[in-house]
Amino acid sequence: MQNKRIPLATPTMHEGEMGYIKEAFDKNWIAPLGFNCDGFEQEMVDYLGGESPVHALALSSGTAALHLAIKLAGVKPGDVVLCSDMTFVASVNPIVYEGATPVFIDSERETWNMDPVALEKAFAKYPQAKAVLLVHLYGTPAKMDEIEEICQKHEAVLIEDAAEALAATYKGKQCGTFGQYSALSFNGNKLITTSGGGMLLTKEAEARSKALFWATQAKEPVLWYEHKEVGYNYRMSNVVAGIGRGQLLHVEEHKEKKRAIYQRYAEGLVGCPGEMNPYLPETDPNFWLSCFLLDEDCGVTPMEIIDRLNEANIEARPIWNPMNKQEAFAGCDYVTTGDVSVGDDIFARGLCLPSDIKMTPEEQARVIAVIRSCFEE
Ligand SMILES: Cc1ncc(COP(=O)(O)O)c(C=O)c1O
Repeated sequence: MQNKRIPLATPTMHEGEMGYIKEAFDKNWIAPLGFNCDGFEQEMVDYLGGESPVHALALSSGTAALHLAIKLAGVKPGDVVLCSDMTFVASVNPIVYEGATPVFIDSERETWNMDPVALEKAFAKYPQAKAVLLVHLYGTPAKMDEIEEICQKHEAVLIEDAAEALAATYKGKQCGTFGQYSALSFNGNKLITTSGGGMLLTKEAEARSKALFWATQAKEPVLWYEHKEVGYNYRMSNVVAGIGRGQLLHVEEHKEKKRAIYQRYAEGLVGCPGEMNPYLPETDPNFWLSCFLLDEDCGVTPMEIIDRLNEANIEARPIWNPMNKQEAFAGCDYVTTGDVSVGDDIFARGLCLPSDIKMTPEEQARVIAVIRSCFEE
């Protein structure tokens, strides 16, 4: 009999979610917007708290949040947006929706996120760049002090893609509260989920209002359906927001379980030729996905390990394939600091390990044993 499947990351539900959903049913509030959306937004604002309070808008996806962030940043056709290269394609697509041009910025090795040195180099080439779209990869905070300073110096709008980084902090400050506009995702595999959904975070209340207007088909506030701008149907449903409220109560617990998974890999893979995905000591990642970077010339490729795990009914994945290598963005510039692309190198040597918080230590020991066996021949 085959072993039980160990997935990469699946939703983990609790009892509270159904209570919020039931209330929506009981009140027949089965619609976009509504009390669960309001509650979810306020509870997220309270959770993120801190010195830089944000305004939150619940939306249908993280991609929708990024799209509205790009629009709020005033990005227009022909503008340049400097964007993290190693990320999921959802970070980049909204730049193109607005007719702007992404320029990809290579990663540094200490967090795998946007390299501030490469960013500065990109501004030398594109001084007119309108915005910087920064991703915190796999829940690991980027080098925020440096990135913020560079954005301020060049008067570029900082957009934070914190889709993978809810609850991760940099010097005690929550990811998602650095950018002028930031996006969270509640896609099924994220730290907390609403099945599908996202949230836009803004520093100013007016920006949130404008985004809500666009997300509601840009309907003018009159009864007779008047539209002066093109809008979108991007709002979150009141039912779905109920899931988010129930999930948010467990966000810290999910993060601690992710951390324990990362630590067990770090200990269990000692002696294997490679290292865990790195982070800065002044940061507290959410450890959304644990990753492993193989040593150069160790004789084993990430795909060999992924295949071997798959044979054992265990799901693992390659690292995000960098954007500079995607045909969809052929012709877009890519800025690195040296001869070697750090992102391409991490992609060639890295893999994402199962990080499902329902995975037991015994199941994780199974994963570790299969990985170790790959180096034993
Ligand atoms: C880095 C990153 N950005 C954006 C998104 C888009 O979020 P969504 O799937 O909610 O549209 C995701 C996840 O899916 C992501 O991982």
